[in-house]
Amino acid sequence: MNDRKEQLAALRAAAMRERDPTASDDVLAVLLNEVRERPAARILEIGAGRGLTSVALLLHSAAHAVGIERDPQRCIAARANFCAFDLNDRATLFEGEAAEILPMLEGPFDIIFLDAAKVQYRRFLPECRRLLAVGGVLFADDVLLFADGVPPKRKMLARHIEEFLEDLFADGGFSAQILRVGKGLAVARRIGDVDA
Ligand SMILES: C[S@@+](CC[C@H](N)C(=O)[O-])C[C@H]1O[C@@H](n2cnc3c(N)ncnc32)[C@H](O)[C@@H]1O
Repeated sequence: MNDRKEQLAALRAAAMRERDPTASDDVLAVLLNEVRERPAARILEIGAGRGLTSVALLLHSAAHAVGIERDPQRCIAARANFCAFDLNDRATLFEGEAAEILPMLEGPFDIIFLDAAKVQYRRFLPECRRLLAVGGVLFADDVLLFADGVPPKRKMLARHIEEFLEDLFADGGFSAQILRVGKGLAVARRIGDVDA
């Protein structure tokens, strides 16, 4: 296990060096804490990148991970990473647009990590809600991206994130909070089938 941890740490460091974003250490720690505390059977990562966060979660659980990634090069890397960690039989990667793939998926998932284009978070929220098990958690990364101020060119994106958070906190089917880890992590537990 230690070898695998080191191998994963090296891949995460390389991704960060190459500015190919992956979950920050503190965001990953929150996700890992969740799988340690509540065994997860199925995990969905929307915006899987090189698959490194799914790999970390799979190494710490017996879950099956489903990833969605639209960038072909990152898909190649993700498949190679699942293979390198012997996780092929516990990982499924869909290559393409999350907006097209999400409606084809069936739940329930115990954990959904929403880490795709922030401009689409709001659009993906109803699908996340549909796919998440009661008691499961939606994690949405980077929701405080502009906490220190919004550059004029990013106003539209900042508004999209704000609207996502408004919808999330107004939804009676979630109990939500924002953790100040990474660039802000929304953590929303699905609490029942209450309609928004
Ligand atoms: C921040 S990176 C993901 C990092 C990954 N979650 C991790 O922790 O290692 C965001 C990824 O989402 C992908 N992405 C963005 N919007 C997407 C969409 N609408 N459908 C599928 N993939 C998307 C990008 O290509 C990129 O690889």
